[in-house]
Amino acid sequence: MVLKVGFTYDSKNEYPENTDDIPDKYAEFDSEETIQHIESALKSGGYEVIRIGHARNLLDRIRSGEKWDIIFNICEGLGGRNRESQVPAILDLFNIPYSGSDALTMGLTLDKVMAKKIIEYHKLSTPKFLCINSMAELTPENLTLKFPLIIKLLHEGTSKGLSKESLVQNFKQLKERVDWTMETFKQPVLIEEFITGYEFTVAVVGNDPPEILPPVQISIYGKMDVGEDFYIRSMVESSDAIKYICPAKIDKKLEKKICDFTSKAYKILGCRDFGRFDFRVDYNNNPYFIECNPLPNLGMLDVFPLVAKATGRTYEQLICLILESALIGVRP
Ligand SMILES: Nc1ncnc2c1ncn2[C@@H]1O[C@H](COP(=O)(O)OP(=O)(O)O)[C@@H](O)[C@H]1O
Ligand SMILES: [Mg+2]
Repeated sequence: MVLKVGFTYDSKNEYPENTDDIPDKYAEFDSEETIQHIESALKSGGYEVIRIGHARNLLDRIRSGEKWDIIFNICEGLGGRNRESQVPAILDLFNIPYSGSDALTMGLTLDKVMAKKIIEYHKLSTPKFLCINSMAELTPENLTLKFPLIIKLLHEGTSKGLSKESLVQNFKQLKERVDWTMETFKQPVLIEEFITGYEFTVAVVGNDPPEILPPVQISIYGKMDVGEDFYIRSMVESSDAIKYICPAKIDKKLEKKICDFTSKAYKILGCRDFGRFDFRVDYNNNPYFIECNPLPNLGMLDVFPLVAKATGRTYEQLICLILESALIGVRP
């Protein structure tokens, strides 16, 4: 019997940007190429793939009585920190199996402060931080963090809101940037101690136990010691600035530290089937958790094709492995 896999995603094509939108409103949505690559990867595994699209399409099609054996979900959703939770919550409500993390993990990790609190509770390292909801909360007295600091959006991805000016060296620069960020993006702002050094991202597939894929090192402008450089929004579109080195050329001790950290973080944040973790590493080789992406980009320009190759798999096999991890326990 061929399994019917419904495919939920948010396609950039369906959301033309309006001039009065906040900047990069739909930046995290997937391109038609990525959607096609995932669709053909799943088909190559012998599955029947039925495109559904976004959460509202899913609801319409559930109401019309359509049935699938499982949903392969990569929906980013719309509006606030629960946007990635929308599809998993709908699927739980209708008792439809799906791949990927559930609504709680999606919300917990999209809100970077919530994720950091859980990480800290488990005594794992993450940069010290302060979350600001209004400018009045930002005074020299309540700022105990050490400069340099980075100013980020609380619940966005794809380096939204990040430019060179996001790194600040003194209180004046900090105030200006926090003010601008809040005004422009209308959401709370996360101020973090900046980790000077190196950057890694680590993909994961499966459960019980998950497979930690080889760490990918990020080089910026050709340097692996990225120092005070970081992944800003304009680098996402330019192919020259960022290079992924996979597997990372690092000593076994650091590799083990990063992989053990990833394995613990995946478990305590409740991730399922796949995910990707971003780390900065200081000059003493201490890794710091930056964020967890339970819906990492699965496109050909991101890290999944590279980690597939580094583990002797094809891209298609790795995508099918995500689905197969979810199918364990579903298939009779
Ligand atoms: N505390 C930090 N220290 C150093 N660099 C950071 C820090 N936080 C974020 N960055 C840089 O900014 C990039 C984007 O931050 P991240 O929290 O991963 O947001 P996004 O969800 O947009 O990917 C990271 O890949 C890293 O280069
Ligand atoms: Mg990131």
